[in-house]
Amino acid sequence: MKLKSILLALLAISAMGGAAAFLYAWESPIPPIDPRSASAPDPAMARRGASLALLGDCATCHTAPGGQPYAGGLAMPTPFGTIYSTNITPDPETGIGQWSAQAFIRALRSGVDREGRHLYPAFPYDHFTRVSDEDAKALYAFFMSLEPVKASAPRNEFMFPLNIRLTLAGWKLLFLRQERFVPDPAKDEKWNRGKYLVDGLGHCGACHSPRNLLGAEKASASFQGGEAEGWRAYALGGNSQSPVPWDEGTLADYLAHGFHPLHGVAGGPMAPVVDNLSSVDPADVSAMAHYLASLGQSAGRKHVQVQSASGPRSSPQLAGAQAATPQLPSNPGGAIYAAVCASCHAAGRPLPLGGVRLDLSTAVAGETPTNLIRIVMQGVPAPGGGSAGPIMPGFGDVLSDQQIVDLADYLRTRVAGRPQWDGIASAIAKARAKSDMALGTQAHKVR
Ligand code: HEC
Ligand code: HEC
Ligand code: HEC
Repeated sequence: MKLKSILLALLAISAMGGAAAFLYAWESPIPPIDPRSASAPDPAMARRGASLALLGDCATCHTAPGGQPYAGGLAMPTPFGTIYSTNITPDPETGIGQWSAQAFIRALRSGVDREGRHLYPAFPYDHFTRVSDEDAKALYAFFMSLEPVKASAPRNEFMFPLNIRLTLAGWKLLFLRQERFVPDPAKDEKWNRGKYLVDGLGHCGACHSPRNLLGAEKASASFQGGEAEGWRAYALGGNSQSPVPWDEGTLADYLAHGFHPLHGVAGGPMAPVVDNLSSVDPADVSAMAHYLASLGQSAGRKHVQVQSASGPRSSPQLAGAQAATPQLPSNPGGAIYAAVCASCHAAGRPLPLGGVRLDLSTAVAGETPTNLIRIVMQGVPAPGGGSAGPIMPGFGDVLSDQQIVDLADYLRTRVAGRPQWDGIASAIAKARAKSDMALGTQAHKVR
């Protein structure tokens, strides 16, 4: 297997040169602190840290379904094995209670734990490495102000040679560029703030950028679209596939509220991100939108003309979609759309509870059928993942694989007017295999 041979080569590189490589890979332990003698964190700093923790989605990864916030134990499947997030509450035995600020900041920026062991990049320290001293200290103050929770994460299940943490030194040598954020003096303060947050704590590229065979982001392809938990994280900026081009205002709205009338609701692994962003300083969200908008705009599709969600409907695509059933009895996908989907998606009900017109949806216009298939099969849970029922039911048990293929083909070619997708059948198989897991992750909500 190609992947395995690359991994072995990587292990060989880190083992080669023996002592030299070992010295490079070696990180010293940082002495434990006695939590009882540590001074109480400054409340104002801890409050600032709480907001930074939301920007960094710390709770989203460090909370198991139904578990205590930040106590770890969430299973994160990767192509290389399953990793479990750790307990980052200040419990002295099972959490980070004995960690000094220095140890915490080293973990955040260099991916090394207090005892000197390399951490897996499932913890996005390749982004957090850009966090400023001040913000890193505020985060530390916040975590130290939490109630300690006693909880140990299950052991990671990695295949050889990645189960050896020293291998990670080779990975870091190749892919981790430890550098703080340097503001661009040619740009204004808002742009710089936005870039700092998007590239650093927000780690947007962790999902929205493609990765190489060793799981590192391709630096040359930032924001060109990536994968997250079996979902497609669409391309952003100039490569965006959205039928309606994103601009600063629509981005700010979508990020702050979790939906936009012309773009629909943020689903899958994007749902907890917007859930977190809904509680941070709106100025930070609008700075991120400002920066993202500067990355360029896709051409979009000129013939989708939308003035507002409820305004004039001049799109020929929409006309086609609404007329689908009567005119296209011979198209099996069109008949399914009319019978099952149109009552919500062509009815013009306001979002987030109404369904967006599917000719506006990136799920239909995007690079892959992944998200469309997942949404059709699993539905859409209520925003915030509360106990209210789903806002769109899943049709995985109602529609056969062939019916889903026909429906996806119809939406793609007739409604979005784009070339046929490859891989619809395999997306269906994957969604069927993952259906139990996926709803669990997107529905759990932590603050
Ligand atoms: C995408 C998921 C993810 C996000 C987001 C995330 N972490 Fe983690 N973090 C992990 C995983 C997984 C590990 C365990 C890595 C390992 O075992 O090698 C980890 C490890 C850590 C550790 C080392 C703890 C130890 O006992 O070794 C610290 C400290 C930490 N994270 C802090 C944070 C903070 C602070 C944030 C938010 C700014 C954050 N993490 C966001 C996944 C995440
Ligand atoms: C954990 C993975 C993950 C992270 C982190 C993440 N996203 Fe996303 N994002 C996704 C996924 C998956 C989708 C598709 C959601 C859907 O189908 O509804 C998405 C959708 C989007 C969209 C809609 C694009 C479109 O054309 O419809 C925007 C905009 C966006 N994300 C911006 C961001 C920004 C900004 C950040 C950082 C603050 C971010 N994302 C962080 C996974 C992620
Ligand atoms: C009971 C109403 C209802 C029905 C029936 C329904 N949906 Fe939805 N759907 C929604 C709601 C509400 C959302 C969330 C808002 C949004 O994003 O459009 C949604 C979201 C979506 C999205 C994501 C749109 C985006 O980019 O945000 C797609 C794709 C989708 N539905 C496809 C379908 C298809 C295909 C069918 C028929 C098999 C269907 N829906 C049936 C209510 C419905």
